[in-house]
Amino acid sequence: MRMHRIGPLFAPIGLAAFFCICEIPSISQAPVPPKTDPALVEQGRSRFAKDCASCHGADARGGSAPDLVRSVLVLHDRGGKKEGVEFPPVLKSGSHNFDYDKNQLKELSQFLTYSVNATLRSGPNTRPTNMQGGNASAGAVYFQQNCSSCHSVTGDLASYGKRFDAVNIQQRLVFPNRILGGSKKKTQVTVVKGNAAPISGTLVRIDDFDVTLAPVAGGVVTISRSPKVKVTLDDPLKGHYELLNRYTDDDIHNLTAYLETLK
Ligand code: HEC
Ligand code: HEC
Repeated sequence: MRMHRIGPLFAPIGLAAFFCICEIPSISQAPVPPKTDPALVEQGRSRFAKDCASCHGADARGGSAPDLVRSVLVLHDRGGKKEGVEFPPVLKSGSHNFDYDKNQLKELSQFLTYSVNATLRSGPNTRPTNMQGGNASAGAVYFQQNCSSCHSVTGDLASYGKRFDAVNIQQRLVFPNRILGGSKKKTQVTVVKGNAAPISGTLVRIDDFDVTLAPVAGGVVTISRSPKVKVTLDDPLKGHYELLNRYTDDDIHNLTAYLETLK
């Protein structure tokens, strides 16, 4: 699928700043961001965290997949009615297979609009500003209690602080990719259809209608989902999704500070 990216997104800000220096500064010169509905933004944020952040980053500013805050599609939507009506073709092709209804699209659209607004407000070189102040020793304790069942700072996370800076560490620990130890740990799936023998394998994709997997025996199988088809997923990152409901901001900052010390 084609990538749409634009560069000069931030030009208007530079221009505004320029005028502010030469003319009498005035609040009315600040670009007025399109309004968003906070309730919809929050719903969109949860959906984004679950379905998109692993590739596009927690704040939509990019990860293994493009920065959506600079996506023309998103910006176009932001300038319009902010309902995400143009999203479906993208969300059903390339790396995606999402089939959202009108309300779900609107929530995502509102969250993305909000993210663009937030980025514009804080300028082109935005980095999360709340990175400092983490307490590494508190992070070490938290790690011992919550992470050491799956990780070791002398094993898979050894020298992790050398590989990534604080911004990356924070994002990765919240929305991890499968990069440790060079091995890709993919989600396993078992499908049981009526009385037939269960089929197990590596998940290729899943949505409300179909599940596609690569069985151990080889090949790729797509099975339609129905109440008679039982699908069991085993995602090695499940532990992380559960942590999402438990982390406080402090926990995340402390963990970031701790992982940064792993040089
Ligand atoms: C498995 C990784 C992955 C996930 C999950 C994912 N994306 Fe993407 N997305 C990509 C990649 C890679 C691209 C670049 C184009 C391509 O290969 O499809 C992309 C492109 C896009 C684009 C077009 C960006 C542009 O360049 O204009 C949009 C919009 C988008 N994704 C939105 C989403 C939303 C919304 C979600 C969650 C509902 C999501 N993506 C989930 C990987 C992902
Ligand atoms: C239930 C097991 C489990 C728990 C608990 C767990 N993780 Fe992970 N974590 C994983 C798996 C699986 C991966 C992906 C490993 C791979 O790359 O093969 C991962 C990946 C990571 C990565 C690398 C992500 C990247 O993209 O660079 C970091 C950092 C990380 N975890 C930190 C933590 C921290 C901090 C905690 C505790 C707050 C934690 N994990 C708790 C299973 C777990």
